[in-house]
Amino acid sequence: MSQGRSTSLILCFLGWQLLLLIHHRSAAVNAAGGSWQLLQKSIGINAMHMQQLHDDSVIIFDRTDFGSSNLSLPAGKCRNDPHDKVLTHDCTAHSAKYNVVSNKFQALDVLTDVWCSSGSAMPDGRLVQTGGFNDGEMKVRVILPCQTCDWQEISNGLAARRWYATNHLLPDGRQIIIGGRREFNYEFYPKTSASRGVFNLPFLSQTNDRKQENNLYPFVHLNVDGNLFIFANNRAILFNYNNGVVVKTYPQITGGDPRNYPSTGSSVLLPLKNLQSGNVEAEVLICGGAPRNSFLQAQRGNFLKALNTCGRIKITDASPSWVMETMPIARTMGDMILLPNGNVLIINGVQNGVAGWELGRNAVLNPVLYKPDDPVGSRFEAQNPSTIARAYHSSAILLRDGRVLVGGSNPHEKYVFTNVTFPTELSLEAFSPDYLNAGVPNLRPRILAPHTQSQIGYGQKLVVRFWLAGPLNANAVSVTLVAPSFTTHSFSQSQRLLVLSGTSKILTVGKNAYRMEVISPGSGNLAPPAFYTMYVVHQGIPSPGIWVQLK
Ligand SMILES: *[C@@H]1O[C@H](CO)[C@@H](O)[C@H](O)[C@H]1NC(C)=O
Ligand SMILES: *[C@@H]1O[C@H](CO)[C@@H](O)[C@H](O)[C@H]1NC(C)=O
Repeated sequence: MSQGRSTSLILCFLGWQLLLLIHHRSAAVNAAGGSWQLLQKSIGINAMHMQQLHDDSVIIFDRTDFGSSNLSLPAGKCRNDPHDKVLTHDCTAHSAKYNVVSNKFQALDVLTDVWCSSGSAMPDGRLVQTGGFNDGEMKVRVILPCQTCDWQEISNGLAARRWYATNHLLPDGRQIIIGGRREFNYEFYPKTSASRGVFNLPFLSQTNDRKQENNLYPFVHLNVDGNLFIFANNRAILFNYNNGVVVKTYPQITGGDPRNYPSTGSSVLLPLKNLQSGNVEAEVLICGGAPRNSFLQAQRGNFLKALNTCGRIKITDASPSWVMETMPIARTMGDMILLPNGNVLIINGVQNGVAGWELGRNAVLNPVLYKPDDPVGSRFEAQNPSTIARAYHSSAILLRDGRVLVGGSNPHEKYVFTNVTFPTELSLEAFSPDYLNAGVPNLRPRILAPHTQSQIGYGQKLVVRFWLAGPLNANAVSVTLVAPSFTTHSFSQSQRLLVLSGTSKILTVGKNAYRMEVISPGSGNLAPPAFYTMYVVHQGIPSPGIWVQLK
């Protein structure tokens, strides 16, 4: 054997070892499956609805007619509501503000019933929430992001009752409020003289199953052409809300099972990319839910197995079709959360039964990761389990720091803590995906510029500087924007993620410091004006986010 040959063999062997080592290390990172942290044993209320605001607070509320909660209003404060069906004099809170950074919470005072309502953060960062039940059904409520701010209520802010409606922030900064129980129409907030009333949406009566409905909390996504993708029951339309015209009718989802409340699958608009291409593609993913007739069956004590399928559709295609995929675990009442690196986390829910009082069984404790860019067949990855069941009336949202806040679960008409399958959960947990593992800080970037709370305009060149301790893989860096959602009943309203296009090479500008240029989204159709969390993602590992205001 010649000298040259043996050297190359040794090199080859070393290379192989190195490869194994690298492979082993990334496998270890991937296989870790995330971790769970109990943040609060009890915040005193059930986290049924959640929205993160740009001061790193999370506004949380359940319903005013649950009876006394385990969180007192500040001394001397009580709610006197002659219309409340359970407690007309209530000195406990049904809303709370959770401060993510300090891990502290405080009571908020919500005046009328916010049960099964909807909402969105506005361009200026306020949360505007709409509707609810009973005396709350036509109310609009506003809360500003500040230490001492509390709910303000606008009576008759809505033109119709909105219970189980879905809202979405629009390119012009208004919200659209779609549907709700027995409301086959939509309206806007704030109202303008040209859009004061209620507008018909026959699609919602066409998709309304008798007795089971299955089209409540419709899945609404703002398409890149400015129209709304609206999925209800088992099918979808592309809708021009300005003139009330159905622009496109999508095929029924394969299998034909319902996916909306009470079937309660979930849905996301997958990350929007190549924003400069002038021909941006948009894809929607819908996962889980309960099969047809689950509600009627569950009422008779027969808790059908949940759906284990996801349907994915390119909504911008000329002739779109559903591509079905199989999840490792069947799930209804799961939440789907866009992670900063563009993966989707499917979390919470149960494997049998359906949404409604006492109608769920068999909690799913393991989240599942969905990697949209991996080949079909290898996109799902089960994650480590929680110990706490999160059934009906639970929720989850992405936090700025990349963790996922998980709370709630109460399939009972009141707070019930003993002698039931799923006791009322007042706790808050955080799920930390693998990218937050101790093994990866070397690869985790940190944003140096822009500064948090910066304003950015549309279609502008944006200089991003970041710091990275370990070696840079310049081919694996991206910048993402995430719109914080209003999440309830397993659907995250106004949730979207944009991958910004880079315009230059990444330059080294100091020790471990780098500079790149990206272009901000070109229009409100791509990204409505709002506060977003911004991330630099390196090899799938996001930096801690910063807040930017797109306007
Ligand atoms: C809530 O309060 C009730 C009544 O005081 C008590 O029995 C229950 O243990 C409390 N639950 C939690 C989780 O704090
Ligand atoms: C627990 O629930 C069961 C079934 O609903 C009921 O029969 C039983 O009386 C309850 N036990 C207590 C201690 O409340």
